[in-house]
Amino acid sequence: MYIDTLIQQLCSTRRLDQTQWAALLRDAGAQDAERLAQAARAEAIAQFGKKIYIRGLIEFTNYCRNDCYYCGIRRSNVKAQRYRLAPEDILACCAEGYALGFRTFVLQGGEDAGFSDDLLCRTVETIKKRWSDCAVTLSVGERDRCVYQSFFEAGADRYLLRHETADEAHYRRLHPAALSLTRRKECLWALKEIGFQVGAGFMVGSPGQTAETLAEDLLFLQQLQPHMVGIGPFLPHKDTPFAQESSGSTEQTLLLLSCVRLMLPQVLLPATTALGTAAVDGRERGILAGANVVMPNLSPLSVRKKYMLYDNKICTSDESAQCRSCLQRRLASIGYEWAVDRGDSPLLGTLHASAGIVTEQNG
Ligand code: 5AD
Ligand code: FES
Repeated sequence: MYIDTLIQQLCSTRRLDQTQWAALLRDAGAQDAERLAQAARAEAIAQFGKKIYIRGLIEFTNYCRNDCYYCGIRRSNVKAQRYRLAPEDILACCAEGYALGFRTFVLQGGEDAGFSDDLLCRTVETIKKRWSDCAVTLSVGERDRCVYQSFFEAGADRYLLRHETADEAHYRRLHPAALSLTRRKECLWALKEIGFQVGAGFMVGSPGQTAETLAEDLLFLQQLQPHMVGIGPFLPHKDTPFAQESSGSTEQTLLLLSCVRLMLPQVLLPATTALGTAAVDGRERGILAGANVVMPNLSPLSVRKKYMLYDNKICTSDESAQCRSCLQRRLASIGYEWAVDRGDSPLLGTLHASAGIVTEQNG
């Protein structure tokens, strides 16, 4: 059948064109999805073994100047109780996380002018000095290139900025006019050029998404060749314009994880908190569909319920240590283990190697 041919082509060439992606995403049935998951899982095991990389997520501010229609911490949500951690609070989260076996800290927040770029640089410097065997990831949205450069010079290793959708019209359906897909993509290319390990990604089932827009997402990822790809289901938040929209499906999210694993075999692919919210065993199923990263929350318990991007987010009343043992149990239940490791992208070695060759040629 046609879908079989597409799956075979994807596995052997790692590529499909726009029409083929759209057909696969529209027409794949449960059995096809299972075949893709098996192939993607085998690929993840070939690349990373049965070790899952762990990132500790520190949600350090929920102030945001943006007003994305899907997001619970959008500027217009007057019901959101705003908070901003002090650098000492962030460092305390890192200390707790380090003791629990975390070797990557992800500092995520809204686009908050009240937490200055300079303060963020100094916080990154302190973390890198105090825990020199750890990686720091930033996820603080769109900034000027020179600001990204200063984050990198302060020691940040990685940057997450989901592109959200690679289709212009769909981007406008999800965001107010002040935001543009062009600018979003420029940020991602700049981050890559600066030397960050870069993560892009998107929600599955967001309002207005179609098999065609998803096909564009995959083609954009193919072009960008990011080190990481964050994919989770869209989940409505009650105090946003999308409150009445329906959630993205767990199955479709799993299918996309498998497609991305097969297209970009070495990519770092988290089984996201949103996936764990959509289904109790969502993260385990994500791993079995090709994911190789989990990002448990290390934020202080006092603020967890305030970083509500969507309704019913899991782990908002669990201590970091509880999440650690919960996740360890979940990983063990499917035969995987927690890697106490920075978990860098395998692509990094080749990138550094090729940078070396360029320098030699130039010299
Ligand atoms: N449902 C699922 N994911 C969401 N995000 C924001 N709001 C939602 C939502 N309602 C995702 C976006 C963003 C990331 C930090 O969280 O993709 O990039
Ligand atoms: Fe947080 Fe299970 S991972 S409670």
